[in-house]
Amino acid sequence: MEDRETVGKILITQEEILNRAKEIGKEISKDFEGEQIVIVGILKGAVLWMADVVKNIESDVILDFMAVSSYGKEKKTTGIVKILKDIDADIEGKNVIIVEDIVDSGITLNYLKTYFKNKLAKNIKICTLLDKPSGRRAEVQVDYVGFEVEDMFIIGYGLDYDQRYRQLPYISYLE
Ligand code: IMP
Ligand code: MG
Repeated sequence: MEDRETVGKILITQEEILNRAKEIGKEISKDFEGEQIVIVGILKGAVLWMADVVKNIESDVILDFMAVSSYGKEKKTTGIVKILKDIDADIEGKNVIIVEDIVDSGITLNYLKTYFKNKLAKNIKICTLLDKPSGRRAEVQVDYVGFEVEDMFIIGYGLDYDQRYRQLPYISYLE
């Protein structure tokens, strides 16, 4: 394979991620005690983190997925969100938690929140593995945050660069 970028140091280990998923799962179980939640994972980046969090939720849960336009080979957002795969569940009157890999500009989640509001969800919360506050361009309230990261291009644990590195069992960055 030609011109491979270098993978940086380990920023967050799998053990740290699993511990944080446990804490957040407990928090969600408390916030939604006795209620049903539709958990919407944003493909493909959120899959690993979503699996960790949901195993720690005691409330009644329905899993669903959505795919939105990705950066492709770009490292910055184009600012345009396109829905490639919609959810299957009817979320009218339901509690929804959107699970993301990372909130950077906030444009994707800002768009998705409005999208779910228009579908008349009762309650929409956001759970993200990583938050990169320095990249913010659109305002969005993030309810459950795994970890904050600096302004770097992050890879691993679901996060990709041009579809690669998602399988790394830790969070790293591109050098
Ligand atoms: P936002 O709309 O700018 O908040 O971007 C959200 C999406 O961009 C995430 O779901 C990621 O797929 C991608 N993204 C943003 N920052 C990074 C990064 O540092 N590494 C990998 N993907 C990223
Ligand atoms: Mg991506």
